[in-house]
Amino acid sequence: MINPATNPNLENPTLAESLARKTAAAASLLGKIACEWRPAVFASSLGAEDMVITDLIVREHLPIEIFSLDTGRLPAETYDLMHDLQTRYGLKLRLYYPRNDLIEDYTREYGINAFYDSVELRMACCRIRKVEPLQRALANRKAWITGMRAEQSTTRDGLPFQSYDEGNKLEKFNPLADWSEHEVWAYIRRNDVPYNKLHDRFYPSVGCAPCTRAIALGEDVRAGRWWWEEPANKECGLHVNSENPVSIAR
Ligand code: ADX
Ligand code: SF4
Repeated sequence: MINPATNPNLENPTLAESLARKTAAAASLLGKIACEWRPAVFASSLGAEDMVITDLIVREHLPIEIFSLDTGRLPAETYDLMHDLQTRYGLKLRLYYPRNDLIEDYTREYGINAFYDSVELRMACCRIRKVEPLQRALANRKAWITGMRAEQSTTRDGLPFQSYDEGNKLEKFNPLADWSEHEVWAYIRRNDVPYNKLHDRFYPSVGCAPCTRAIALGEDVRAGRWWWEEPANKECGLHVNSENPVSIAR
């Protein structure tokens, strides 16, 4: 079955107009970041939104480094897409990995899949596998860019294009903050941008394999992330404006 969300009607004039306008605005913001906030980096999870931003950065030849946090638990399809990026754009993502000692302590103490046991252990895993590597990726940078959109969840309502990231002490930009899911997919289809094949199997939001499942039609786009938790908890700590020391809650 074709996923309608990933196949918008490209002939729709309203969609074509909003896509053209928002693409120009996002490209202009990225250009401004590259000039005024150097060195700036783009954090890519290789999600659909991140592929749009990657395409714009490459197309405009912007001096913005693109990196990804390889948690060690990503789905095979995400690694396949990393490979496709190299083929399509000649782009080697810079990858950041979690610290071995922290993973070893965590799994010895709590087990390999302890994130299912409590919100605290889930967040501790995210801190070790994502937040600590992110802190290293952002060190000595002036700004970072994400692919977040306001529409993605209640935790992202009112998401600004630009804000100061107090926790990481640098400027943060969300160039697609006002994009709809349809606009993201219209950009991908129109420009033949490579994407994670899990999106065709009803995974609108892809994170680590054990913490992501497919959604049913009509469900919230992030319903498949940490699906066993309350919606208000569904952030991994990458986008929280506070210090996130790497410690394991007991
Ligand atoms: S998450 O925080 O819940 O995992 P989500 O998957 O919606 O976030 O992604 C939001 C944005 O966070 C992405 O567009 C990307 O900028 C950044 N991000 C999330 N996961 C990663 C990752 N593994 N590597 C790099 N950036 C990431
Ligand atoms: Fe760990 Fe799941 Fe967070 Fe990935 S998403 S870092 S596996 S808790």
